[in-house]
Amino acid sequence: MLGIESTAHSFGVSLVRSSGRAVTVLSNEVAKYPSSKSGYLPRKLADFHAEKFPLVLGSALVKADVSVFDVDAVAFSRGPGIGHCLQAGFTAAKALSLFLSVPLVPVNHAFAHAEVVRVFSKAKDPLVVYVSGGNTQIFCKQNGFFHVLGETLDVGIGNFLDNLGRLLNLNPPDAVGVLKNAQKGRKLVSLPYVVKGMNTSYSGMLTYVEKLVGKEKAEDLCFSVQEYAFAALCEASERALLHSGKTELLLCGGNARNKRLQEMMRKVAKSQKARFCISSDKFLGDNAAMIAVAGVSIQKANAVSKELLPFQNLRVESEKAFW
Ligand code: FE2
Repeated sequence: MLGIESTAHSFGVSLVRSSGRAVTVLSNEVAKYPSSKSGYLPRKLADFHAEKFPLVLGSALVKADVSVFDVDAVAFSRGPGIGHCLQAGFTAAKALSLFLSVPLVPVNHAFAHAEVVRVFSKAKDPLVVYVSGGNTQIFCKQNGFFHVLGETLDVGIGNFLDNLGRLLNLNPPDAVGVLKNAQKGRKLVSLPYVVKGMNTSYSGMLTYVEKLVGKEKAEDLCFSVQEYAFAALCEASERALLHSGKTELLLCGGNARNKRLQEMMRKVAKSQKARFCISSDKFLGDNAAMIAVAGVSIQKANAVSKELLPFQNLRVESEKAFW
């Protein structure tokens, strides 16, 4: 299976081999558009993806040591994501599938984030906590479909931390800069804490922090924001774990690489006697291996959708849950 990931600033190509129940990642290549202080222009991201496609494909094939003619199917991110970027990935995937006369497998990006961790952590039917730039969701399988139990009511936790990085003029000006600074922070500054049932909200916290710039040290603000934002997510996740009755807590998405968040979620799982499921960092951020691995699972379950066109507001509830 060849997987293509292009929902936002990264363009990735991966090759995975499946034999029996074993899935092996042969290569997982990515080209990443550099982060900037002013954010991203979707059109420029799509130009970047189109330009990088042949290069990333070439290096994925070389690393995997296979010929393009060994590919049996092509999986791609159908959504959710930035429309321009999804279109670039879809065009690349469709061209390859037509050229090779192999099936095209559309993959829900949110499902792929969870599926790659589920496969490699050998989870069966987990409660998923999905934390990335544009998405912060708590979902699980219910009555054959995915059901979102809780989510952010405004901004995704990753975009929230990216905005904080820009507001504080950190280096890099994003969630990574926040994480680096948070490790130096010592003082816990009081901040707004919003949990509504199993939903969270972060935009008010950003407005509040804006007023504290210059009055509190940047590292203390980063430290406090992480503690408050992650605690809110942990509270919502613990409630969802109890409500759903699931016995596995799976953390996925780009911001799942944050070790403090992992530590807090591990405690939540332990307190509810659930198994904590996580993968190595390389499968947590946007990567093409997760699309290829999810593509393999979808094919094995005979669940390949006929809906191919990219859809930027695609929801995980629209997917049949075959776990
Ligand atoms: Fe993502």
